[in-house]
Amino acid sequence: MSLPISIPLLLPQVPDREALWPYLGRIDEKRHYSNFGPLVKELESRLAERFQAHSSHTLQVVTTSSATLGLELALSSLDLPKGSHILVPALTFVATLTAVIHAGHIPVVTDIDPASWLLTPDIAKNVIKESNAKAALVVATFGQPQDTVAWSEFQKSTGIRIVIDAAGAFGSQWVTASDIPVVFSMHATKSLVAGEGGFVVCGDGKTTALIAQLSNFGINLNPDANLPVGQLSYAGSNAKLSEFHAAVGLASLDSWDAQAEKRQTIYAHYRQTLDDACNNAITWQSGDILAAPNTLSIRVGSSAKREYLERICAEKGIGTRRWYQPLLHQHAKKIGPVIHLDTTEADKIATDLIGLPFSVFITTEQIQQIADIVNKVVSNNH
Ligand SMILES: Cc1ncc(COP(=O)(O)O)c(C=O)c1O
Repeated sequence: MSLPISIPLLLPQVPDREALWPYLGRIDEKRHYSNFGPLVKELESRLAERFQAHSSHTLQVVTTSSATLGLELALSSLDLPKGSHILVPALTFVATLTAVIHAGHIPVVTDIDPASWLLTPDIAKNVIKESNAKAALVVATFGQPQDTVAWSEFQKSTGIRIVIDAAGAFGSQWVTASDIPVVFSMHATKSLVAGEGGFVVCGDGKTTALIAQLSNFGINLNPDANLPVGQLSYAGSNAKLSEFHAAVGLASLDSWDAQAEKRQTIYAHYRQTLDDACNNAITWQSGDILAAPNTLSIRVGSSAKREYLERICAEKGIGTRRWYQPLLHQHAKKIGPVIHLDTTEADKIATDLIGLPFSVFITTEQIQQIADIVNKVVSNNH
């Protein structure tokens, strides 16, 4: 009798206490626990250095308590009239939607490219009139990077403001345009981890300064502003990253390159094993293999096949997830007004898209077990 296998969908890799120790010692010494402390500043400058190496513009980094809050504050920093229409792709995590609503705007759910699964400038161009959009919250879906230069050109030519949600794209998404805020997550499930946390990268210092101010309730701390220090100039939030989270983030950054290489190697092997086992019958998101993948999603060909796969995996204790489903327009009506444009391609993708287990801890035997099951499913035509 074969033993039941158990393979979790995700298994976070977070720095252990040995790696955290020196950073925690520094917090003890300084007795500075939040409010733009030294570890937060160090994390921001080390991140800025990384992004700077891939850009000809000077880039700033501002941390936030999560990517969700980073998105919300980046949208607020655009200072659009309340109730503005904001384009969002149908296939993304719900935080993309909630950020728009909490920033006081109306999400306009739109379609994605059938191959890259991304909202592209061409798709956005086609819905400018119909959507009456003032901005777009564009997503680096499943970590697949967006073209910041193309979006910057779109922004300049249309006047529609762009924010990029690159929550899971650290290491693959660079910021080559100077005028677009790009938001990353440091949630425990990502490759760069703070436990909870996020950051915004942007070439416009005024935008990052405003996001920092909004993350501290909106209090003006700038003696050169036309406003007394301590006065509110905006109704912000408390979205500051604590020193403890920055400690985890710094320790995670120390080992990130080695971890990214491991993630990439495992992903490439996993993909090859699945393709070999299934005779190339599964469909992948187009684009390069990511610098540090943290999920693995495939299309299996039909909703019946997906259900069959889910059933077998559940029986064997193998985690699966219909990532980013329901699609954004399929959530409860009471969350607020959501405008739904044509989403034919996203709807099709959502019929058979499924996330399989992926982590740095997955073994070659487990990958083979999963590939054998996926093959059984995709080659079954009944
Ligand atoms: C596309 C996208 N946006 C936003 C978020 C939210 O990030 P956080 O958990 O840091 O708020 C996620 C989280 O996975 C995500 O995948």
